[in-house]
Formats: sequence, structure tokens, C-alpha cells
Amino acid sequence: VQPVYLDHAATTPLWPEAREAMLPYLGERFGNPSSSHRWGRDARSALEDARDRVARVLGAQRSEIIFTASGTESDNIAVLGAWRSCPRERAAVVCSAVEHKAALLATKAAHREGAPLVILGVDDEGRVDLSLLDEALASRPAVVTVMWGNNEVGTVQPVAEIGARCLAAGVPFHTDAVQAFGKVRVRVDETPCDLLALSAHKFGGPKGIGILYIREGTVLEALEHGGGQEHHLRPGTENVAGAVGLAVAAEKSVMALDAESARLAALRDSLEHSLREAVPGLVVNGGGARLPHISNVSIPGVDQDALLVSLDLEGIAVSVASACQSGATAPSHVLSAMGRVLPQGASIRVSLGRTTTAADIERAAQVIPHVVARTSITARTSLAASIAS
Ligand SMILES: Cc1ncc(COP(=O)(O)O)c(C=O)c1O
Repeated sequence: VQPVYLDHAATTPLWPEAREAMLPYLGERFGNPSSSHRWGRDARSALEDARDRVARVLGAQRSEIIFTASGTESDNIAVLGAWRSCPRERAAVVCSAVEHKAALLATKAAHREGAPLVILGVDDEGRVDLSLLDEALASRPAVVTVMWGNNEVGTVQPVAEIGARCLAAGVPFHTDAVQAFGKVRVRVDETPCDLLALSAHKFGGPKGIGILYIREGTVLEALEHGGGQEHHLRPGTENVAGAVGLAVAAEKSVMALDAESARLAALRDSLEHSLREAVPGLVVNGGGARLPHISNVSIPGVDQDALLVSLDLEGIAVSVASACQSGATAPSHVLSAMGRVLPQGASIRVSLGRTTTAADIERAAQVIPHVVARTSITARTSLAASIAS
């Protein structure tokens, strides 16, 4: 049987058009965009064309887009750059309890450098408590970072409201839109955010390239020092092929957005419906506005490691919470913040993408309940008892 890849929130295949557009820049069009000769000018024009295209898709100006090496790097430049550029008397940093580790650990690094850290709690669906935000804003922090859509449970935050409150308080607002982009409408001309992070490999671009949108007038201190590329904020020779692939993938994703989001949400709903019917006690985590491609379910009484190994053997690729912590046995900080950690049981994230078909979902809906029954702790205990006797 064909294996089924349901881990698109970890990474998703390249758009074929992005790959095609990149190939010349991995071949004969190899120049360094900082060189003034024709090879350099050719690379520069490709890079600037990619920047223009990304800016258009996001509703930004081209001067507000910098290319980075990843979503992680974008989050770090935003959070640490904002904190380090801020006068010390207003230097708290604020983040939600459900941020990706990239933003969460950047705020913790600022904390180690002396920033008071405010972590905003969430409700049981993973949504930030706005009254806590209002309290935090009263001290005029250096930066607030709240992700657009969560990578583990898919919950969408009220970013427009958060941004409006930060704007009114005169506090820079960073949002990690790495999972949200291409799945919901993400535009900086419609959302009051000062900083926004994207990662190409989450929307069908190549790995190792990201975007940081920096609203004009936002001050950041550079974390790295070198040749001055990308407004000195991300020095180092630019990844031209990556930028070209990112731009094509961004355009394709936005063009496909409406139809694709509806398709993925319908597939996700049908999977959740089947799993709820077939697996006793199964709970879907997250709620309200959710990204269409992520489903996180908790299953009581199963062994997490055994479940994952068995699913993999059956050819179903899913993930335990964030892929960046795959293999970790500590409970997810996201589920903990939501009060959703089970004393005994497993939580898995199933994530869908462009190549996911209805047949993939049907197969997952058949296989997961069987594997759950096999890896249930009671089943294993009675098997062990019968072997022992
Ligand atoms: C919400 C979120 N932010 C940031 C990242 C990190 O992106 P990258 O893999 O490009 O470093 C991820 C990847 O898992 C993510 O899901």
C-alpha cells in the first residue's frame, strides 16, 4: 500500500513551478547579487523581483521585506532585535504561552539578557486572553509576539485585535504567520502588525529561506554583523534560488487559497468525524477559528511512542505535536497551556496539504483506530499478562 504523508505542517512538497523557477539559479545564473558585473546584476534583479512579488502578495512595500534563512531566524530577528533596540526602561517582552519555540525561546533569551518576561495564558482552545494582553501593554513593553495560527493545534489568534491594541499602546507587534500563510488570508495592509515571519517550506517553497516583514519605521537591532545585506539585518550572501522559489510558492499559495482552504477543512472535518466515531474518548484539541490543515487529537490510554511507531509501520506519517520536538517525550507546552495534557495517553497532529487526497484521509481514518486499539495500554497489559501466564 502507498504510504500516506500527513505531516504537512512539518514541511510540504515544493510547488513544481517553484522548483522550475529555481533551477537556473542553481545552474548558469549563479551570480552573487552584491557583484556589480553582469552575473551579479542578473542575480540582483532576480532577488529584487522576488522581493517585489512577495511584497505584492502580502500588501507590503518592497523595502519592508527582508529575506532570512528560516522562520526561526525571522522570529529571532524580530523579537531579540526589537528588545535590543529598545530603551531599557520599557523593556519587557510579551509572548503567548502557545508560541512556536522559535519565538518562545527568543523571548526567553531576551529574559536572560534582563527583560522582564510576560507569558500570556490561553483558554482551553488555545486562544490568548486579551485582558492579560491589556495588562501587559500597560507597562509599554519592547515587543509583543503572538503567532497568527498555531502549529500544533491550528488555533487562529485574534491578530487584528491584538495588533490594534498594540498599535494604540505604541508597542511593536510581531506575529509568526509561518503556519497561517497560504491557509488563511495574511495581509499586512489589512492587519496592524509591525513584524511578520514566514517560512517558504511550509507553503511549497524550498527549505532554508524565510521572510521577515518589517513595517516602515520599526526599529530593530541587528543580531548578526557582516556585509550589510538585507538592510544590515540579515547580512550574508542572499539565497537567490531560494528567494525565487519562495516568491513563486507564495503567489501560487495565495492564488489557490480559497479553494484549497475549503478543500482541506472539509477533509480535516471528515477525518475528525470518523475518528470520533471509531475511537472511544478521543478529543479534538483547539477550536473556534482554526487553520484548515491541522488536526490535533488526544487519545486516552494509549502509549504515545508505540502509537507513532505503529502508525509509521502502517505507512501513516503524522507527528507528535510540533515536528521540531518529534521524539521528545515531555508533554507539549501548547497542550499544557490549554490544560489538555492527558495523564495517560497520546496526542497526535495530523496535518494536510496540497497533495493530500480524499483517499489518503479514508485510509488514515481506517488505520488510526486499528493502531489505537493495538497500542492501548489496557490491550498491551492484557497481552503481556497472557504471555506471562
Ligand atoms: C509556527 C512556526 N513558527 C516557526 C517555525 C520555524 O520555521 P523554520 O522551519 O523555517 O525555521 C515553524 C516550523 O515548524 C512553525 O510551525
